[in-house]
Amino acid sequence: MKLPNITKLKNLKGKRVLLRVDFNVPIKDGAVVDDFRIQKVVPTIQFLKKSGAKTIILSHIGREKTDSLFPISSKLGEKIPHVFVEDFGSEEGKTALVSLKNGEVALIQNLRKWDGEKASDKKYAKTLAQFGDVYVNEAFAVSHRKDASVFLLPKLLPSYFGPLFCEEVENLSLAFKKHKPFLCILGGAKFETKMPLVKKYLVSADTVFVGGALANTFYKMKGLEIGASLADGSTPAMKALLKNKKMILPLDVVVDGPTGKIVRSPDQIEMTEKIVDDGPETIKMLETEIKKAKFVLWNGPLGYYEGGFDGATLAVAAALVKSGVQAVVGGGDTVAAIEKNKTKSKNIFVSTAGGAMLDFLSKGTLPAIDVVMKKK
Ligand code: 3PG
Repeated sequence: MKLPNITKLKNLKGKRVLLRVDFNVPIKDGAVVDDFRIQKVVPTIQFLKKSGAKTIILSHIGREKTDSLFPISSKLGEKIPHVFVEDFGSEEGKTALVSLKNGEVALIQNLRKWDGEKASDKKYAKTLAQFGDVYVNEAFAVSHRKDASVFLLPKLLPSYFGPLFCEEVENLSLAFKKHKPFLCILGGAKFETKMPLVKKYLVSADTVFVGGALANTFYKMKGLEIGASLADGSTPAMKALLKNKKMILPLDVVVDGPTGKIVRSPDQIEMTEKIVDDGPETIKMLETEIKKAKFVLWNGPLGYYEGGFDGATLAVAAALVKSGVQAVVGGGDTVAAIEKNKTKSKNIFVSTAGGAMLDFLSKGTLPAIDVVMKKK
């Protein structure tokens, strides 16, 4: 898929660019906890500044109207001077936006503060569109939604994608090519979001390892005791997957229970225990699979990472970095695990997306991509 990339456009001087980014990052006590998504779009903003464009940055944060982009504005300000516009509908807001000079930047408050964003409201989109001459989508991570700023704005203005967006599509599309052996590692907790990937990659990959809390659902289907572990309900379609020889489950797991943290075989879990991570035998097996693989697709942590049970996730991240295998990685804490490895591998692409990565990997496109490509 060849996307129209804004960096190929020559005449941006004086153009008002509406740049949709995804600054939906974790905040704690009013400060940014993880700035990965912010740092990734800094080069795009710098490019627009250098080109003499007047850049108006649009983003959402969280799911509440009251969630504020103010902490992100402070963080972004360390690299990109800009004005923060609380309300683009107010006289003050409008004045700030229309008085931007060439090379200057503004950031508008959380788009979800207005009902029109989630409701994909045409009037709201038109109000936003009047501030721009060109629209750039640099928000791959929210492009699986049909929110006004990603789905309606491109219909109202000449539209392009940012370089990071293009990089996401190019790298995630590697998963649609033939690689032999192709190893797919899926972890995380929500089975329903991963099910389409398990099904799809059981066809195109050579091995699909299902770990983390996802595996618990399979253990349960096999009739094993999983104690107090997280698990989703099973369906007949999921039961059928158990017979597929390409699918592998953890050989051992770490459980947390009355006797503390111990390693167990999946058929020896007690009712009072909770599976919190994949075990050392599983890690060894994955290290061997990674060494053999020509391509690895990995989404989702292999344990209760945020609770401190990060052993398997960190070990697999380290094995990937060490192996030099071409890999595409994404999904919350999986990213943090890769970032913790000081020696960064050029062969590993780390996606900024969560749900959008899953949707793109299962469908090969996203609504906010289709809407631009249909126009071309
Ligand atoms: C994400 O973090 O996955 C995106 O920003 C989308 O957020 P949403 O799930 O609240 O739409």
